[in-house]
Amino acid sequence: MNAPVIAIDGPTASGKGSVAARIAAELGWHYLDSGAIYRILALAGLQRGFALDDEEALAALAPALDVKFDGETIRLDGADVSLDVRRETTGNAASKIAVLPAVRAALMARLRAFRQSPGLVGDGRDMGSVVFPDAPLKIFLTASAEARADRRYKQLIEKGLPASLDSLVQELRERDARDAMRAVAPLKPCEDAILLDTTLISIAEAVAFVLRHARQRGIC
Ligand code: CDP
Ligand code: CDP
Repeated sequence: MNAPVIAIDGPTASGKGSVAARIAAELGWHYLDSGAIYRILALAGLQRGFALDDEEALAALAPALDVKFDGETIRLDGADVSLDVRRETTGNAASKIAVLPAVRAALMARLRAFRQSPGLVGDGRDMGSVVFPDAPLKIFLTASAEARADRRYKQLIEKGLPASLDSLVQELRERDARDAMRAVAPLKPCEDAILLDTTLISIAEAVAFVLRHARQRGIC
């Protein structure tokens, strides 16, 4: 039998990463930050001088990516790219390559391989809709655009990365629109997802909400 999956999807800075990582730690399950994979592929493509719409080259690169996750550290081709991966420019580049169907298809096996016993908490845009459609619990997080821009701004400043609140609001709206309008795996809650607006609640409250539902369903 397949290991159980808790799928946590939502737009940028809705809190998916923080919530998913804490749940995985609490349950002792594996954690998949699927956005990081898209970000790393975008970074690798840019490093090789590929255009962000070069579907063929990017899809060919996907299975060959030399990536290592070591705690908080991400290594690409042996180099520490942990900070570069978190840049907003990388997030925007990731969202551009994420519209390409061949790229999404090429990453699928890589993403599904994270599903291992005793269970997986995966966060992204299409964890519940496409990658793990049989996940026994699907959560879709939302939050107001202003709250999300504010969170992302604080997060970038904390890491010492460049950030401007005005451009973040603008970029966040553009990225939301690109993610939601694309033909393949668009950002939207699937019918069996439970919605949670995190604008006014803490990460701890969101974690407790998800765990309550997981226990009610008997999956942990
Ligand atoms: O952390 P944040 O929500 O800003 O972004 P992310 O989860 O790191 O994802 C970066 C971009 O990758 C998103 O804007 C999506 O376009 C794309 N992505 C996707 O298409 N499907 C996923 N499962 C995860 C990310
Ligand atoms: O993964 P995603 O882009 O959806 O968001 P995140 O990286 O988990 O959260 C973005 C920032 O918002 C982090 O610094 C979180 O600590 C913060 N956050 C918050 O203050 N309150 C929440 N309810 C959720 C996230």
